[in-house]
Amino acid sequence: MLSSAKISNYLNTGLPIHLTSFEEISSTNEMLFRDAQTKKIPDFSVYVAERQNAGRGRLNRKWESPAGSGLWFSILLRPKINYHYTNLINLYTAYALAAFLEREVCTVLGLPIVIDLKWPNDLYIRGQKVAGILLKSNFNGPQFDFMVVGIGLNVNQRMADFSSEIRQKATSLLLATGREWDREKLFGRFLNFYFENYQHFFPANFSQIPDLYQQKMSFSAQPIRIRTGNEELTGKIESISPEGYLILNCEKGKRTISTGDIFPSKMESADDLSR
Ligand code: BTN
Repeated sequence: MLSSAKISNYLNTGLPIHLTSFEEISSTNEMLFRDAQTKKIPDFSVYVAERQNAGRGRLNRKWESPAGSGLWFSILLRPKINYHYTNLINLYTAYALAAFLEREVCTVLGLPIVIDLKWPNDLYIRGQKVAGILLKSNFNGPQFDFMVVGIGLNVNQRMADFSSEIRQKATSLLLATGREWDREKLFGRFLNFYFENYQHFFPANFSQIPDLYQQKMSFSAQPIRIRTGNEELTGKIESISPEGYLILNCEKGKRTISTGDIFPSKMESADDLSR
């Protein structure tokens, strides 16, 4: 099991982070969301699991979360922003994780590794997915109450650790850098980075996030296909809106899209890693 004590040794943020480590649970997102609804657990509670037996990705896809190799965790936040802007927490989280990994993992080793963001919340290294984010918000009537931000980061997997379904599409920090990473240290240091920047952006500076995000976003200049809930569109990404939505230039004109799966338009079909 990941040691809360060891992780806490690395924490030096001013925020009161409440960390709980589990050997095995269904899903850190599901548990944290349920506990936030039913118990009075504090903001900045963080659940981390060595293994999830029902880890989930976007669109209820299965998320492989075996023991000993990844970081599967969820964070409870109550950002003081209007609920129209909750997608920015998604984008912020993806941006912060990418910036942290580039600094901590790539630059330290002197490796020229770039992390690309695939809108809205996937992290890729050289075209393979290394991390995904799943956010769930809770409303009290029309009032935005809290959100749970779930992060799955592939750390020390080798090729054989991924199922055959995702082996071609997934990567890990070990595969990208050729060395194993201390998950507890990496996690503690990420939480510092995440909360330090969170305090900077929310609520005072969140309008900066779309621009920052776009600097790391893949597919900016090429034709893409996007599959949304009920249609598939082809076009070019124009920008990210102030709410964190994708603005697409397509044959039907300009479209604002709140969520979807992006693929380069030349691909006939593409499946997401977490399927
Ligand atoms: C995706 O890419 O579709 C999102 C993947 C999110 C996975 C994380 S792992 C921790 C948390 N618990 C879950 O069940 N899912 C998220």
